[in-house]
This record gives sequence, C-alpha cells and structure tokens, in this order.
Amino acid sequence: MKPQKGLFIVLILALFAWPLEQSFFPYFIKLIIDALTGLDSLKTPLNEIPIFKDLGGILLLGVAFFITTEIIYRSSDFLRAYLLPPFMARIRTYLINYVGQQSFTYFSNNFPGAIANKINDLPRAAHELFEKIFTSFIPGILNGLIAIALLLTLSPLLSVIMLIWVISHLWISWVASKKASLYAKDQSEALSTLSGKIVDVLNNIFTVRLFNGFQHEKKYLWKYQTDAVQKHTKTLIFSAQLKTVLGVLSLLEYGFMISVSLYGWKMGWLSLGDVAFILTILQNIMQSTWWVSYEFPHLFEQVGISLQAYDLLTQKITIEDKKHAPPLVITGGEIVFDNVTFHHTSNSSELPVLFNNLSIILKGGEKVGVVGFSGSGKTTFVNLILRQFDPQQGRILIDGQDIKTISLESLWNSISVIPQDTNLFHRTLYENIHYGNLKAHRDQVIIAAEKAYVSELVSRLPQGYETIVGDRGGNLSGGERQRIAIARSILKDAPLLILDEATSALDSETERKIQDSLLTAMKGRTSLVIAHRLSTLYHMDRILVFQQGRIVESGTHQELLLRNGHYKYLFSLQNNGFLQEIQGVEL
Ligand SMILES: Nc1ncnc2c1ncn2[C@@H]1O[C@H](COP(=O)(O)OP(=O)(O)O)[C@@H](O)[C@H]1O
Ligand SMILES: [Mg+2]
Repeated sequence: MKPQKGLFIVLILALFAWPLEQSFFPYFIKLIIDALTGLDSLKTPLNEIPIFKDLGGILLLGVAFFITTEIIYRSSDFLRAYLLPPFMARIRTYLINYVGQQSFTYFSNNFPGAIANKINDLPRAAHELFEKIFTSFIPGILNGLIAIALLLTLSPLLSVIMLIWVISHLWISWVASKKASLYAKDQSEALSTLSGKIVDVLNNIFTVRLFNGFQHEKKYLWKYQTDAVQKHTKTLIFSAQLKTVLGVLSLLEYGFMISVSLYGWKMGWLSLGDVAFILTILQNIMQSTWWVSYEFPHLFEQVGISLQAYDLLTQKITIEDKKHAPPLVITGGEIVFDNVTFHHTSNSSELPVLFNNLSIILKGGEKVGVVGFSGSGKTTFVNLILRQFDPQQGRILIDGQDIKTISLESLWNSISVIPQDTNLFHRTLYENIHYGNLKAHRDQVIIAAEKAYVSELVSRLPQGYETIVGDRGGNLSGGERQRIAIARSILKDAPLLILDEATSALDSETERKIQDSLLTAMKGRTSLVIAHRLSTLYHMDRILVFQQGRIVESGTHQELLLRNGHYKYLFSLQNNGFLQEIQGVEL
C-alpha cells in the first residue's frame, strides 16, 4: 500500500471515529443501567451482578472500541499537522507562480497589497474549509445519522420526530446563514473601508499635524465608524433572532422527547436503560446539530473569500510564451516596429490610440535617442519592445524575429533596461546590484558599482554594501536609487540597452561622471536612450522626436536644430534650464 493511500484511510476512519464514539456511549450507558436495574446494590454479591457475568465481553469490547477510536482520532490530528501546512504552501507557490506571469497591465490595475492578501487568503480559506468539513460537518452529520439509527431500534416514532427536528433546524440555519453572510459581507466591507481611511490618515500624518487637522480627521473617521457600527449591530441582531427561533424549537423538542420517553417507561415499552439512552442521545444529537449549524455562516464566509481570491488570481494571463517558443537569437541587434498600432487599456476600457501604424527601424549597433514631452509615448515605446504590452496591430521584430514568437525569458535576457522609476528590493545594496546578473562574482558586482558611482555612496554608509536599502529603496535618494539601477544594468551586460530617463534624478556633476560609463556600455550595442536632459543626446547617431505617439522628426542633433521644428522648440525650452551648462562644453 502506498503511504499516501494509508494516510487517506486514517483520515476517513477518523471521520467515523468521533461519531461512533459519541453515539455508542449512550448505548453503553443503557446496557449498564439495564443490567443494574432492580438489583439491591448492597446485597447482591459481585459475581452475581449480570453486568460482570453476562456483559463482561461487551464491556471489554466497548473499552477496546473507545481506545481504538481515540487512537485513530489523535493520529488524524497528527496527520493533519503534517499534511496541511505543506498543502497550503503548495497552493501559495502555485498562486505566486501564476501571478508572477501576469502582464504589466494586471499589476498596474491591481494593488500589490491586494494581490498578496488574496495569495494568503486562498490557502487559509482552503485550510478552514478543510477543517470545517472534516472536523465539524461530516462527523457532526454522521453522528446525527448513527444516533438516529440507534434510536430507531428502540422507538421508530421518537426517531422520526428527532429526524424532523434535525432537518428543520439545519434547513432554517442554512437559509438564514446565506442571508447572514450578506450582512457579514456588508460589515466587513465597511470595516475595510474604515481601515483604508485610517491608513490614509496615518500616511498623511505629517500633513495632519502641520495643518492641525486632527479634530477634522476624527470627525471624518467617525462617519465611517458609525457605518461599521450599524452594520455590525445588524449582523449580531440577525444572528440573535435566528438563535431565538432555533432555541424555541429545541425547547419544544426537549419537552416532547422527555415526556414521550417517560410516558413509554410508565406504559412499559421502555426500560430504565432505554430512557437513559434516549435522554443522553437526545443531548448528543442536539449538541452536534447546533454545532454544525453554527458553522454555516463560516462556511459561506470562507467560500466567499475563496471565490473572490480565485477570481482575481485566475484572471487569464494575457502575455505568455507560445508553446515551445524558441529563444531570441541576437545577430546584429536590429529592432523593427512594423506598422504598430497600440492603445492602452485601463480596467478593461480602451484608451485613445497612442501609436497609429508606427513603423521604424533601429539599426544594429545604432545609438538612438528619443525625446518628447512627458506623455508622448516614450516609455510605452520601450514597454512594447519589452513585450510588457502587445500591440493591437502590427509586429515588433528583433533581428527578424517577431517578439511574440520567441520566449519571454530570452527577450528579457537580451535587454538591459534602466527604467524611469527604480524600485529596489528591501534587501542589501549589494543584493540589489547583484540582481543584474545573479551568476556574477563579487568583483564583477563591485566593478559595475564603481562605473555607476555607487561606490562613492557605499563608502559613506557605515555598513557599506551590506546596507539595507529600506522599503522600495526608501532610505536612499532618487539619484542614489538610479545609480544602483545603472550599476545593475551595467552588470547585466545584455546585447541591447535601453535607458529610460536613466539619469533624470542625478545632479549634473554625477551625471557627467556616469555618462562615460554609459557611453562605454553603449559601444557596439543597439542603444535606445530616452533623454530627460537633451545633453545626453549629443552622442547619439540619430534622435527620434515623439509627439503624441508619432515620430515627428528624426535626425542628428545638428540636423534637427537646423530643421527648426519640434526638437528646436524642446531645445529652446531646455536652453534656459538644464542645457545651458552643457552648451558651453559641447557646442
Ligand atoms: N499602464 C498604462 N495604462 C494606461 N495608460 C497609460 C499607461 N502607461 C502610460 N499610459 C498613458 O500613455 C501615454 C504615454 O505615456 P508614456 O509612454 O509613459 O509617456 P512618456 O514616457 O513619454 O512620458 C500617457 O497618456 C499615459 O497616461
Ligand atoms: Mg516615460
């Protein structure tokens, strides 16, 4: 027998162990009382008491039975302790793997915190459901059925009455719990809105203090408090009403069962032992029925949580590898946009078209600059090359291979990107740079760090490379984070290089220092450089000027200036600011 099968059998046996124990216990009481009935306890010698004479075997069997059920029951506890945590981890891992493949759009439409909550919710709810079903529902219901069957052997009438009561109790609770779960949902939504508001106040606590807004905030939060209180009260009152109805029904049931069994004894259909049996089993069925019905609201709640998590987590993955997608093979590094039409989508509504039939060729090894106002589509252009989005029409080719047909892993391996916004892991500075190439040795990491002038920052930190950078790199300035991102990309050393306003947060002096490293990095590889300061563009072979998703001009810096168009306009705007310092040097 496979061990898995063995474990499974123990779990199934455990389902029966408790109900059998619960239902047979009253039966043993009956046997004992019947055996003792009519005996004078003081005068009867021990070996004449029938319980020892005739029932010895049954009693022994009983003891063996109780010990066995106990052992099975406890082993199932241990089994659950070993099985459930890895099971939950497996669900979590599956979810993390699945969500990890989701597109950029998915992550911009869903808060990471909400996704993480759901990744935790689903295994927890699965655990709860498993526990409830295997330790409450099935045993509770089995217990009721076995007990009613035993009762049937004594009095079919009582057994039918009991069954009717159990069914009506469960039915009323089930229907009411469905309604209660709606109230509970309202209540938990009110609570989560409230807690969102509290977080918002805490996030802005600096502003609240500076503007003496605390009284205002208290009043503002009170509205949400009141709402939560009302909904909570409503939930509790509904539950109290339900329990009142069920309580009255139970009292009637008790009264009826007790009266009938006493009457039966009086009339001689029932022995004293029978009466004891009926009364104990009555109590037992009552308890387990109440117990099962108490779990209904939790059951609905957990199912609700699971369904919500399931919905978010199983959203279709929109950008994924074709089956057996071959890797990208870089020969010269040519990037081609072939009649690309693209618009963003936000929460499944379509935004206006950004690129309309855009065609452009970036030659292998060419250094291409991109300029344009913010919002003109520069970052989206990069994201299309990285296949963070798929164009609605047209193709993007790298060295003749449609990027939709090659594996995403090989695509991302071939491109170093320094993104516009750098988020860092809440890990050490070293780990953050090392991420560029996890196979790199320490020396290589440090050389990359030096090229990006991170070493200068490191020397100022007491813990050097081992400094934790803080949540999302929050302990560092924007420029420092950017230098780490640059170091990381230099370390990656991929055949294609994309800089998206890579030096925008640096001061001019640091920028000039890093410029050399970046120019070296660009040598011999196709480079796409989105410039925040036009100073970066002097070294480009060609500059593309973006305006609302269109490439309105292209040429070298000098050519574009002569053309007197949009570039000249952008340049004149910057002339008053960033570019002045460069002008003296370069022009
Ligand atoms: N993920 C997104 N979802 C919806 N709209 C977006 C998204 N990213 C960018 N946009 C919109 O697309 C346009 C171009 O943005 P972007 O490519 O970031 O411009 P740039 O980098 O030139 O500043 C802007 O109007 C922006 O609001
Ligand atoms: Mg941008």
